[in-house]
Amino acid sequence: MKIGFGSDHGGYNLKCEIIEHLAKKGIDCIDFGADDAVQSVDYPIYGQRVAEAVAAKDVDCGIVCCGTGIGISLAANKVPGIRCAVVSDTFSAKMSKAHNNANMLSLGERVLGRGLALEIVDAWLETEFEGGRHQKRVDLISAVEEKYNK
Ligand code: RB5
Repeated sequence: MKIGFGSDHGGYNLKCEIIEHLAKKGIDCIDFGADDAVQSVDYPIYGQRVAEAVAAKDVDCGIVCCGTGIGISLAANKVPGIRCAVVSDTFSAKMSKAHNNANMLSLGERVLGRGLALEIVDAWLETEFEGGRHQKRVDLISAVEEKYNK
């Protein structure tokens, strides 16, 4: 599995912790920046980069981090085909995959401790989309996107 990563300065340290955790499991982790926690940078740039890699299928899915997880997810969700879920608990992490087929996960470094963040990542990666009635609803999300992207 190949996962794209992105963060701003506010999510940089958490991103590095997640990459270290997943690399130990043999997962191919591609980091689209930012490159440190010191230089103040703009989260939309990194949300867009990862989202475009996911949409292009250059990576299987994306994980992004900023201070809250909110700003970078909002930017990612502007890229057609992206369903980026901001999550702060393991139940929502599982549901975002099982019911919403989220192809990106967004986490807030200033919200979550390391232990919970890694549990959320594992829960999200281990959960499969259930399909069935949920596929129709995901298709309806795509239909909203198509209506406004004409
Ligand atoms: C940066 O200070 C902060 O605004 C950013 O990391 C994020 O929390 C935005 O949603």
